[in-house]
Amino acid sequence: MNTFEQYESEVRSYCRSFPVVFSKAKGASLFTESGQEYIDFLAGAGTLNYGHNHPELKQALLEYIESDGLTHGLDMHSCAKEALITTLQEVILQPRGLNNYVIQFTGPTGTNAVEAALKLARKHTGREAVIAFTNGFHGVSGAALSCTGNQHHRGGAGTSLHNVVRMPYAGYFGDQVDTLDMMDKLLQDPSSGIDHPAAVILEVIQGEGGLNVASPEWLRKLRKLCDKHDMLLIIDDIQAGCGRSGDFFSFEASGVKPDIITLSKSLSGFGLPLAVTVFRKELDIWKPGEHNGTFRGNNHAFITASKALRTFWETKEFSEEIKQKGEFVRQRMRKICDRFGPSSLHVKGRCMMSGIECPDGELADDVVAESFKRGLVIETCGNRDQIVKCFAPLTISQDDLSKGMDILEQAFAAAKSNAAKSDAAAS
Ligand SMILES: Cc1ncc(COP(=O)(O)O)c(C=O)c1O
Repeated sequence: MNTFEQYESEVRSYCRSFPVVFSKAKGASLFTESGQEYIDFLAGAGTLNYGHNHPELKQALLEYIESDGLTHGLDMHSCAKEALITTLQEVILQPRGLNNYVIQFTGPTGTNAVEAALKLARKHTGREAVIAFTNGFHGVSGAALSCTGNQHHRGGAGTSLHNVVRMPYAGYFGDQVDTLDMMDKLLQDPSSGIDHPAAVILEVIQGEGGLNVASPEWLRKLRKLCDKHDMLLIIDDIQAGCGRSGDFFSFEASGVKPDIITLSKSLSGFGLPLAVTVFRKELDIWKPGEHNGTFRGNNHAFITASKALRTFWETKEFSEEIKQKGEFVRQRMRKICDRFGPSSLHVKGRCMMSGIECPDGELADDVVAESFKRGLVIETCGNRDQIVKCFAPLTISQDDLSKGMDILEQAFAAAKSNAAKSDAAAS
């Protein structure tokens, strides 16, 4: 038994798919203690959009540490925080018409940013119910877990999860059914049994729930519905944000302005913990310290976040590059589907947040295992873990991206052949 099996809790999960010990990482590559290299198509579940140890971010952090810059600061004013607030305003919010939005630094995990968003919506409206969608994932702490659909995670709560009304996400019943018409009817009917919700929370591309995508039209209609029924619109951009969709925010293409936005994962750009809840200034009715968190002043993360935003988002160049890579990935995925299952495999998601849906979780799991044998770290998502989810760093070189997609194709070939052999053995 190794140290992890002996002394680490059974709750560990990703390490079960990749049973090696990693010691170094650079760009889109992970290296084990024995020097074996893996291409990383997991990217810290969307935390490493700029790859591992990006040299410019690393340099900025090293210089800051060398100068004895503040590391931990609760929510005290610091130069590093001032620089990040200014950068977020100048580079991200104002150019996107999100003027007059304020930034709340929450505890440094995504789920804490979601807790803050939900608390604020409830406090502002004085209402308890929140609408969340089928297959949505918003974290695993109290109120965030109530909004998460996944049975496995909900099962870990050990208590009732309440004050959430579950509605069908875009396309849940297929293209022919407009789930927002259904929602509108339920909200209009005084006897539908649905209490007036404070807010609606959603992901524009459902990261864990299966790479389901809400179209720009659907989002615009949802915005109108929120206004009509006096509900706040919360977009959880923790996974789909920071460039995954091709734009900095996943909702940009729709022109919709959410009332509250949550960001975390790739915000620090370096894998350092950082989360924020961003909202219209009029909603800012917090009393000092009412929502807090000891580690909401992670100044190292502020430094790398400012550097990442300045390096990648001051022009449109990076966004164009992501969109080109996304198109390449999806073309390769379509080729894999055509070759190994034109009617049973499907490309899902958008841009660099895409994956291949398999008919079942067993095949997807085997693709993950066969990929790993060939030097590729990749994981599954979806309501039945049936989607092989491709989350390469957005900065990956074209060469590494091609190599990774080649391995994925070989893994599909091997997994299909394994499935055929076990079918033959069973019959
Ligand atoms: C959309 C979304 N919201 C919230 C979270 C929770 O973030 P964290 O794991 O940092 O608490 C995640 C994590 O995967 C997520 O994808």
